[in-house]
Amino acid sequence: MIIRKLNEEEYSQAIDLKIYSFDEEVEGRVPNSMIKEMEIIVRLEKEDDWRAVELLTRKAFWKAERIEKIGIGCDEHYLVHTLRTSPEFVPELDFVAEVNGRLVGNVIFSKAYVLLPDGSRHDVLNFGPLSVLPEFQKQGVGSALMVHSLKVAARLGYGAVIFFGHPSYYPRFGFKEAKEFNITTFNGKNYPAFMAMELIYGDLEGITGTYHESPLYNVDPDKAKEYDELFYKE
Ligand SMILES: CC(C)(COP(=O)(O)OP(=O)(O)OC[C@H]1O[C@@H](n2cnc3c(N)ncnc32)[C@H](O)[C@@H]1OP(=O)(O)O)[C@@H](O)C(=O)NCCC(=O)NCCS
Repeated sequence: MIIRKLNEEEYSQAIDLKIYSFDEEVEGRVPNSMIKEMEIIVRLEKEDDWRAVELLTRKAFWKAERIEKIGIGCDEHYLVHTLRTSPEFVPELDFVAEVNGRLVGNVIFSKAYVLLPDGSRHDVLNFGPLSVLPEFQKQGVGSALMVHSLKVAARLGYGAVIFFGHPSYYPRFGFKEAKEFNITTFNGKNYPAFMAMELIYGDLEGITGTYHESPLYNVDPDKAKEYDELFYKE
């Protein structure tokens, strides 16, 4: 994928997220119009943040009922850990959210593509996990991370985002079911949790095919469990 800044004309065609008005810089303060009394800072993740981000991801996703299914309460913290060193990782879009100096959220993006019937690939972005510490949920942190990262992604020249997520949460940012763009999962399926959004108007026009994300999303439960044991020693 070629990453470049948009020229003014292209940027004017990029989607207007119309949720908050954000600072122009990649790193900076994000005014939170939903909760006036809580200031959320969204900035790029640093290596020093890695452990805290994995811990908050673990806390955000952990569910006792998943222990029966996959052997641990969640594998998303292991996914974050592996994605950071993968060729698909996009460090310019690896954001954390801070409240009063505490890390409370993270979103991580990776490169993905739509495979067209003629065998060519149309590059897109994927994201996830998006995590917010349980005690900071429903206070605008997830929205601040999403809006800021999507806006930066558009500025960097990425044309579209496709991913799997809660179908009742993401439409507020402009996501629609991927089937509206004639894009299916790798095995030809569509369902509400499979969503897409153009960052540059028309980027998915005429793009029909199957979606392919980093193979790391197919998490090996044994490796995730082994990695998770490190968290009990802390
Ligand atoms: C989902 C999540 C990232 C949202 O972040 P957040 O900071 O709580 O969300 P915001 O404060 O920006 O937005 C709150 C809204 O999201 C909704 N929401 C929160 N979790 C949701 C979920 N799992 N499904 C659907 N909607 C959800 C709330 O009901 C609220 O809706 P409202 O504005 O209509 O009242 C966060 O709750 C989280 O980390 N959850 C656990 C991990 C997870 O499921 N991650 C996403 C995987 S797709």
